[in-house]
Amino acid sequence: MFLGLYLVLVINMSENGFAQNVDLQHWMRDLPEQIRNIPFIYLAIPGSHDSMTYNITRSSGLAPDAEPILKRLYPLFHGTILRWTITQAVDALQQLLIGIRYFDLRLATKTGSDDFYFTHGVYAGEIYQPLKQIKDFIYEHPYEVVILDFQHFYGFTPDDHQRLMRFILNLFGPQLVPRQPDLNGITLNSLHRLRQQVIVIYRHQSVYATSEFWQPQMMPSPWPQQDNITGLLNFLKNVKRNPAMGFVHQAVLTPTPGFILFRWVSNLREKCAKPVKNEIYPKLSEFSPGRPIERDGKTRVNVIIADFVEMDNAIFSKMVIKLNFKLLNTESISHSYG
Ligand SMILES: *[C@@H]1O[C@H](CO)[C@@H](O)[C@H](O)[C@H]1NC(C)=O
Ligand SMILES: *[C@@H]1O[C@H](CO)[C@@H](O)[C@H](O)[C@H]1NC(C)=O
Repeated sequence: MFLGLYLVLVINMSENGFAQNVDLQHWMRDLPEQIRNIPFIYLAIPGSHDSMTYNITRSSGLAPDAEPILKRLYPLFHGTILRWTITQAVDALQQLLIGIRYFDLRLATKTGSDDFYFTHGVYAGEIYQPLKQIKDFIYEHPYEVVILDFQHFYGFTPDDHQRLMRFILNLFGPQLVPRQPDLNGITLNSLHRLRQQVIVIYRHQSVYATSEFWQPQMMPSPWPQQDNITGLLNFLKNVKRNPAMGFVHQAVLTPTPGFILFRWVSNLREKCAKPVKNEIYPKLSEFSPGRPIERDGKTRVNVIIADFVEMDNAIFSKMVIKLNFKLLNTESISHSYG
């Protein structure tokens, strides 16, 4: 009885203490040792959706992934289209500093250029500078681990894939976390011992010649494709997950053309990101990380992504990071006390 009470106090204190003092740029380093020994795929990790759209501007051109309707409307209405295309307001480094550790990347080639570009219907910037920000960040933050999810490739030839893969291998080299059949052996502590800090997921089937990149099924990221809160929450609660793999829960609303038509002068931040913040984030805090248990009906999260992750003083990443403290349950603490 007395012991039980004592344990609860310890948990509450560490939870509150962490919540108040959390150093977002070093949050993985500062997690309790017990959590740093839990498999990475059972931790809660905040990420950004369409991470690199922050520098889409009026001078950005249409990219190969633009829908045909977008191509017809763009010359007349590009101001509106940009407002609904931009999903992030701060750059890769700022995102890292507020705790984001997963990046959702969509790439395109551009006619007449050998460079690769980030895209979301409209070209965002060239890929080198943001990836270099990530490389510099992990160098200065040796305990932090970052997931780069190369989701989509537009206008890519097999040769473009070869060039891109070589570029990634050269940039991160030994810092990459090689793919392995059993993801249970990967923890923050094991990665730190090996000085491995970058997980690359490469969602294209032809390329598994290199053992450095993770395959799509090692971290599925199903698209909710919902334009209202009820539909989204229902999706997030019920989507099925393989317990042996990582997972990405996308806490984002997707506007349809009709949705945009009735909100023409607004933007994605106001009409999608803010409702998610106000109505979905409080529900997410009821979810837990940890190993998914069949039929216990609980949603177990790993990566969770959102739009405009800097809103309200990074409330999103603070909320997700804090979920990890649910892993310090009474049972496992009693174990460590013998
Ligand atoms: C995006 O940012 C990069 C680096 O800051 C810059 O070189 C590029 O021109 C920007 N692109 C656009 C479309 O603003
Ligand atoms: C929300 O979306 C779902 C499916 O996408 C739909 O069935 C439902 O009617 C929508 N609800 C509202 C209130 O629009």
